[in-house]
Amino acid sequence: MCGIVGYTGKRSAAPVIVEGLKCLEYRGYDSFGLAVTDCESAAKSDAGGLAVIKKQGRISDAGRDVTLLNGNTGIGHTRWATHGVPSDVNAHPHTDCTGDIAVIHNGIIENYAELKRSLIAEGHTFKSETDTEVIAHLLEKFCNAADADGLIGEERIDFAVKSLMETLEGSFALLILIRGFSGLIAIKRFSPLVLGIGDEELFASSDMTPILEHTQKILFLEDDDYAYLMPEGIRVFSYPSGDAVEREVKTVDWDVESAKKGGYDFFMEKEIFEQPAVFVNSFRQSIDDKAVSVLKKASSITVVACGSSYHAGLVFRYLAEKYCKIPVRVEIASEFLNFAIAKGTAVIAVTQSGETADTLAALRHAKASGCPVFAVTNVLGSSVTRIADHVLYTRAGPEISVAATKSFIAQCAVLMRIVSVLGKGIFEKELFEIYPVLEETLLFDPAGASAVCKDAENIFYVGRGVYYPISLEGALKMKEITYIHAEGCAAGELKHGPFSLLTPETPVIAVCTKDASYPVMISNIKEMKARGAPVIAIGSAGDKDLKEIADIFIPLPKSENICEVISATIILQMIACNTAVLLGRDVDKPRNLAKSVTVI
Ligand code: G6P
Repeated sequence: MCGIVGYTGKRSAAPVIVEGLKCLEYRGYDSFGLAVTDCESAAKSDAGGLAVIKKQGRISDAGRDVTLLNGNTGIGHTRWATHGVPSDVNAHPHTDCTGDIAVIHNGIIENYAELKRSLIAEGHTFKSETDTEVIAHLLEKFCNAADADGLIGEERIDFAVKSLMETLEGSFALLILIRGFSGLIAIKRFSPLVLGIGDEELFASSDMTPILEHTQKILFLEDDDYAYLMPEGIRVFSYPSGDAVEREVKTVDWDVESAKKGGYDFFMEKEIFEQPAVFVNSFRQSIDDKAVSVLKKASSITVVACGSSYHAGLVFRYLAEKYCKIPVRVEIASEFLNFAIAKGTAVIAVTQSGETADTLAALRHAKASGCPVFAVTNVLGSSVTRIADHVLYTRAGPEISVAATKSFIAQCAVLMRIVSVLGKGIFEKELFEIYPVLEETLLFDPAGASAVCKDAENIFYVGRGVYYPISLEGALKMKEITYIHAEGCAAGELKHGPFSLLTPETPVIAVCTKDASYPVMISNIKEMKARGAPVIAIGSAGDKDLKEIADIFIPLPKSENICEVISATIILQMIACNTAVLLGRDVDKPRNLAKSVTVI
């Protein structure tokens, strides 16, 4: 995954890059590094003409020496290891044998092993275990070839960049410094990379959050674009033709403050508390008539997604099948290529980031198969928006915590909006008026439930109907950020296996509102109690029966059934977040995870 930031302009590059990388830590945080040109810094000896600092650990813990790197053009990286363990030497930037070239990379070079073997045979010496290092050595090789052909200046760089793009297979967003070239080179293929245009300064980044602090003018590169960020401006070219291309510059009005903690201890907490507004803003948008008519004409809908977005897809399935009578399939994006697509199917990719590699691959496959393709995403200009025929935006604003909260709620809102439109206005009134219900939900104190959960080794989450995916999502939140094994189950399935794991030390969190499944859920809860498991039950306001059966009863605010779906989700998020705090976990940056999964 990894986060990358580049800067060239009148300011010292390193402090701008360090602050930018802090915004991108959600993409990876096992090591970091910077390379800056025109340096007199002590680190200079490490990389010849460029000053390079790279270390295992987090950019937020980096000492002052990083910001003291001297120079107006630089690149920086925060890593999520794919090839090689987190270590100083595997951290980016990677340099060639001469130290004249520094590269940072997000993505995966699929043919790196064979490239590495031939580069070693040609005399190159490798320092790291990464796939990225081949890029630095390849550039060295191609620059030497250009020199031998007498190419100089930009022609030399053009030759090296095009040769590189011809040679590499896989996905890559690259920022490159080459000694003697007074600018920054940016290359994009299947990994996110956006550019920012400020006042006599230019930025590059994996997403726009680090840039918005400085400028709202964002240029979205397309796949196989390469760009030179020079003191005189940005020039973008398209590979393989090498023709100069114009890419649209958009003004992005995301609030910079919303990417900061604003008084909360953790981003996750802040993002949970933003949800009443996020839901309403996301639900209250109109859906383009053309998109509606394509959905209406479809014989079935398939949702492709990963992680929490997949759970939002399942919520959509329960509602759309029941209230709109549309057959809906929901597939984990990474498995989608194994299945046949029925004729007449419309495919919706649900992806917060718009960059999840598996989801993009699934949507491309659907498009190639002739399906109309839709995207539900949070990020303007993200890769999925360029594949989809129709884009529906969630209005969550930047989500920084790795565990999805407000983006999930926003996805549910947009998908519920689709249900409402296809279902002739169903839920419209209830969901337009949900704001105070969600505000009241946030008054919940998770201390009692968290005290039970924090000592458990295993927790089950159960529900029926639409509360099955909500249980999956609740369990995912718990396991992601507390490292307690948590499993979501359809309540009816418990007796087909998981019952054998129930003990007085295995809490079950049951979501049991007064909907159609209520009577069976009550029986299921009694069965769990009979096996000694402590039950934390989330139910409708004033449910005396449930209160009597459960060990802990959490009443939802009084509201319509559909609103309870969202309230219950928020309660589960709050329990997970509070349990993680009690266990002293790093709530926003759980171990081994990253927010944006741009590798397959
Ligand atoms: C990662 C994140 C999850 C997210 C999933 C899908 O695993 O940690 O929070 O749900 O990716 O991401 P997407 O951007 O496609 O929604």
